[in-house]
Amino acid sequence: MSSLLIKNIKNLVQTDENTSHRSLVRGDAMRHLPSIENAFLLIEGDEIEDFGAMEHCPDRADEIIDASGKMVFPCWCDSHSHLVFAGSRDQEFVDRINGLSYEEIARRGGGILNSARRLQDTSEEELLEQAYDRIQEIRSFGTGAIEIKSGYGLTLESELKILRVIQRLKTLTGLAIKATFLGAHAIPQSYKNKRAEYVDLVINAMLPQIAAEGLADYIDVFCEKVAFSVEETAQIIKAGKKYGLKPKIHTNQFNCMGGIQISVEHDALSVDHLEVVNDEEIACLLTSNTIPTLLPSAPFFINDHYPPARKLIDAGLPVALATDYNPGSTPSGRMPFVLSLACIKMSMSPEEVINAATINGAYAMELGESHGTIRKGKKANIFITKKIPSIAYIPYAFGSNLVEKTIINGKIDDKV
Ligand code: NIG
Ligand code: FE
Repeated sequence: MSSLLIKNIKNLVQTDENTSHRSLVRGDAMRHLPSIENAFLLIEGDEIEDFGAMEHCPDRADEIIDASGKMVFPCWCDSHSHLVFAGSRDQEFVDRINGLSYEEIARRGGGILNSARRLQDTSEEELLEQAYDRIQEIRSFGTGAIEIKSGYGLTLESELKILRVIQRLKTLTGLAIKATFLGAHAIPQSYKNKRAEYVDLVINAMLPQIAAEGLADYIDVFCEKVAFSVEETAQIIKAGKKYGLKPKIHTNQFNCMGGIQISVEHDALSVDHLEVVNDEEIACLLTSNTIPTLLPSAPFFINDHYPPARKLIDAGLPVALATDYNPGSTPSGRMPFVLSLACIKMSMSPEEVINAATINGAYAMELGESHGTIRKGKKANIFITKKIPSIAYIPYAFGSNLVEKTIINGKIDDKV
């Protein structure tokens, strides 16, 4: 097993030294970001072997990196993405500039249905190639763990195609990847007047085969007026649970309609989007273990309003941040930009956004015990920054890539 020592680290961020794992960070505690100045980090094989102040730095390793002036972070944990998709939707981008809304485009058969048509006509190999390139890019921006959803297939065959691509990405990229089945992303055109039949297809044809092949970890439903009702969502969540798939639910993007309550009732791992949330829903979340996951680059891109992050955190909730990388509402998988938006548009502090994008993101895909902090025995998924003056500089310098090297499972990925 080879060892890698990173020494003279200006700031080793998000350290985790207690006997019990640093758990999901809630409310006021999100302002606290443990870190060690002038530190070292020792990696053995694919794990973090040791870390601490430079005065305790070992003097030998197979490879040594001097990180003077640079910082080291655990990789970003992006707990919500749809990065297996075909092509793009730049024409809809232009339509929106010309005045059509995201919901209007969806109602006309564009949006998700547009992406589904493209994906159905794309081979598994081509899809894999496109998704692989996207992963290479986000890795260079510091992402080391990601959840990826299906949902642009909307037929048994095409949903399986996406989920198989996700499985192949696990071996090809080395990133920690969780797969979510989102057959209930939109009602396909051919089921427009027979919604119940599509829900039946999801539950009785797609789910059993996906579960039999072990292709998904979670189940998702787009619970929204333009997509699935609360009743349909409940039906699908219950069916997923029978196969051991925990729910992670798209809800409250445009309307408060009970999506949070039904998700909490079924012990969802996360509820995602939450551009609109009312007090009753906040109270409901406070009774649960469900993680509110905010995706600010979606409202940025479709020019909508941002989730009330302050209200959620000030109420004592844990918040996770993720990209939502997809062709319609967020054609970008860059976590640092999400962090900048969360600071600028949602008044979260730099410490809060880093907690939300590391440890809380890890818990929102059940990777909290192996990822999301610098802890002995955790996976060596870290990135080394360029020389930066402060932690706040990461969200401050929006658009820049301040990551110099990403290390996944102990393997260095140099910048090209
Ligand atoms: O999370 N809201 C639902 N699904 C995706 C976007 C879908 C699309 O427009 O392709 C989202 O924003
Ligand atoms: Fe999404």
